[in-house]
Amino acid sequence: MSINDSTARYCAHIRDLNRHYEQGLEHAGLAAVVIGAGNPRAYFMDDQRVPFRPCPHFAQWGPLQEHPGSVMIVRAGSQPELLVYAPIDYWHQIPAIPVQFGEAGIQVQTVHNPESIKQHIATITGKTAFLGEVVASGDNFGIERVNPPDLIEHLHEGRTRKSEWELESLRKASEIAVRGHIAAEQSFQAGGSEYEIQTAYRTACQVTDNEMPYPAIVAINSNAAALHYQRLERQRGNNLSLLIDAGHAVNGYASDITRTYSEDPAFGALVEAMHELQQQLCANAMPGTDYCELHNAAHIGIAELLQEAEVITMDSSDAVAAGISKVFFPHGLGHFLGLQVHDVGALYTRRNPDEKTQLGEHPHLRLTRVLEPGNVLTIEPGLYFINSLLNELRSGPESRYINWARVKQLSPFGGIRIEDNIHITATGNENLTRNAFAQFCLPG
Ligand code: GLY
Ligand code: MN
Ligand code: MN
Repeated sequence: MSINDSTARYCAHIRDLNRHYEQGLEHAGLAAVVIGAGNPRAYFMDDQRVPFRPCPHFAQWGPLQEHPGSVMIVRAGSQPELLVYAPIDYWHQIPAIPVQFGEAGIQVQTVHNPESIKQHIATITGKTAFLGEVVASGDNFGIERVNPPDLIEHLHEGRTRKSEWELESLRKASEIAVRGHIAAEQSFQAGGSEYEIQTAYRTACQVTDNEMPYPAIVAINSNAAALHYQRLERQRGNNLSLLIDAGHAVNGYASDITRTYSEDPAFGALVEAMHELQQQLCANAMPGTDYCELHNAAHIGIAELLQEAEVITMDSSDAVAAGISKVFFPHGLGHFLGLQVHDVGALYTRRNPDEKTQLGEHPHLRLTRVLEPGNVLTIEPGLYFINSLLNELRSGPESRYINWARVKQLSPFGGIRIEDNIHITATGNENLTRNAFAQFCLPG
C-alpha cells in the first residue's frame, strides 16, 4: 500500500468524522465543540509529570500523541481547526504536525500561549461545548458547557465502528507487536529473564515503555497467575512457561496480544487446547453475535478443557453452573480496542442499561454488546492456577470435584491466556493478530 493510499484513507476518516461530529452537534443543539488534548499531570507533591495521554476524542483526529494543551475546534459547516500549543520555551520540543492534516482540510495554526487559544475560542459564535478533561480552572478555556452527555454518547458510538484509516493503523499495530512477540519467545527459549524478554520485545518493536499502549505483562512460571503481573524479574531461572501480554500503538491505535509458551508435555497440551478453543470463539465473532453469549461459551469451553486435562471430575456444564470455571477464568473474554486499550473507556459497552443482570453474573466483562461490522475487539480466554481462588475452592463443598494432585502438578506453570485482535466485517471477521503471525509463516 502506498503512502498516498494511506493519506486518502486519512482524508476519508476526517471527512466522515467531521460529518459524525456535525450530526452530534445538531442533535445536542450546539454550534461548535472545542476538544482539549489535556495536560500532563504532576505526581503528588512533585514537579515530575505522569506520562501524557491525550483525550481520545482529540486523538481521533490524527496522530497527536505529544501535543498537550492543544485543541481541535469543530463547527457545523466549517473546516475543523487544530490549534497546536507550542510554548516558546527551551524545555521541550514539540513534534511537527504531520502534513496530511492540511491535505485532509484541517486548518492548522500554532499558538504560543493558552490565552491565545481562549481569544480564538471567544470568536466562535453560537452555543459551544468543551470536550475533555478539566482538572484545573482554565482547562476548559472558560467554556461553561463541559462534556455534554448526549454529544459524548454520540461520539462514543462512532468510536465503536472503525474507519479504514483506523483499521490500517490497528493492522500495523498488530504487525509490529507480533515482531515483538516472536523476539520475546526466542528470548524465553534461550533462557532469558522476564526483564530480558521484555527488553527483547521492546527492541524488536523499537519502543520505550511509555510508548507502549499499556505496561506489558511478562510472566514466567507461576507469576502468570497474577493477572496484572508487573514486576520484571531480573534473575534468570528455570523457564517452564511464559505468558506475555504486550501491544504496540500506531497513530495512537493499540494492539493487545497475549501468547503463552511451554515445552512441558502436559501444560503445553493445555496451551494447544486453549489455542483451539480461542480460534473456535474467534470463528463465532461476527455481526449479530451477542458478546455475552460468546463469553458464556468460553466458560463452557474452559470447563471442557479442565475436564479433559483431568483437573476437574465433573461435567463441564455443571462446573460452569457451580461457578468452578470462574475460579480458573476470572476475567472477561475481551473488550473493544482502539485509541484506548479498553476502548471507549470500557465504559460504553451496553446498549441497554437493563443488561445489568449479565454484568452482575460477569462483573469483569467489559463488552456486553451485540457485535457490528467495524467493531474491533479482543478475544482472550484464559485459564490460571490462582492460589487465593483455589484456596477458597478447596475449603468449599465443590472441593471434591477437583483433582488436587493435578492442580499441584500444573500450578508451577501459572496460567494461560491467548489473546487476538478481531475486526468484525460485514460477513464474519478479520483476525488482525493471526494474519500478522501468518506474515512470518507462523500459525500464531
Ligand atoms: N492487556 C490488557 C488486557 O488484555 O485487557
Ligand atoms: Mn485485552
Ligand atoms: Mn492483553
